[in-house]
Amino acid sequence: MIRTPLTRWFDLTTPVIGAPMAGVSGGELAAAVSRAGGLGMIGVSGRHSADFVTSESAIPAEAELPFGVGLMIWTLADRPDLFEATVAAKPSLVSMSFGDPEPYVGPLHDAGIAVVAQVNTVADAHRALEAGVDVLVAQGTEAGGHTGQRALLPLLQEVLTLTDRPVVAGGGIATGGAMAGMLVAGAAGVWIGTALLSCTEGLNGAAARQRIRETSGDETVLTRAFDVAEGIPWPERWPGRALVNDFSQAWHGREDELVDDDAARRLVVEGRRTGDPAHAPLYAGEAVGLVTAERSATDVVRELTADAEKALRAATRLMG
Ligand SMILES: Cc1cc2nc3c(=O)[nH]c(=O)nc-3n(C[C@H](O)[C@H](O)[C@H](O)COP(=O)(O)O)c2cc1C
Repeated sequence: MIRTPLTRWFDLTTPVIGAPMAGVSGGELAAAVSRAGGLGMIGVSGRHSADFVTSESAIPAEAELPFGVGLMIWTLADRPDLFEATVAAKPSLVSMSFGDPEPYVGPLHDAGIAVVAQVNTVADAHRALEAGVDVLVAQGTEAGGHTGQRALLPLLQEVLTLTDRPVVAGGGIATGGAMAGMLVAGAAGVWIGTALLSCTEGLNGAAARQRIRETSGDETVLTRAFDVAEGIPWPERWPGRALVNDFSQAWHGREDELVDDDAARRLVVEGRRTGDPAHAPLYAGEAVGLVTAERSATDVVRELTADAEKALRAATRLMG
């Protein structure tokens, strides 16, 4: 069994966290990850209701499985109800990402809830450490969904020099070998999102899962175009990594023009409504090329863990 400070802290049997993914990871996906001995998280965006947080959290809670909730800090100024519902749901871990976690750490700790923050730069890591977060995730630019510009490996190495608190690696991890590599590099665990995008327990639909299985890692783009089109006020420093489609090919890099082009913007809004893959965003990371089958998240995490154990044993044989 792989033991790290993360598994000891949260009483896990594998150092795998199922990343919060708004629109994909609800209570069923989180429960499926936790059933494999990892820690599954529920992704919450500003479009969700507080009832969503409550009802999705009840799924792992009623199965007596540990779970976490991931919030986007920049959405909370207008939506304090999401934070309140999260605290009331009593998760083991709350991810406070994409903003300054400082105002939230005290109330979470007072409620007995551990706090994790995804960081995209060294400056973010300093801010999270000063705020008192318990666990950091170095989120590389390879990651699916909204992320920063720095590659995982150098960011992870640099963040590890700053702290003794557990640092988890996120972005592009989809094989046991990669998981083992991150642990050897010093990470306390892995934070996987894209690897779970074709799971039977996800909130994403069959068509999205099929597209995930058919796409290679060459076909993603880190872009603000979809957020501009949908009128979602994501801070500019966090673009989103999505599959390339007709819309991103036409508008990525031309966001300033797109703001004023109502017809083009409507293509994305309508595309989301009708499920049109040429225009709707499908957020996924560079590891998408490794996702080739529809499976239970429990099996994905179990296989990742078994393969990481094999890789770690093989690594010791490199010596001498
Ligand atoms: C579809 C999708 C939705 C995401 N939604 C969220 C979210 O709601 N909150 C969050 O903190 N991160 C979100 N992320 C980022 C993940 O938490 C994580 O950093 C990322 O998936 C890790 O990289 P990987 O996709 O290469 O495994 C999302 C990622 C994806 C792919």
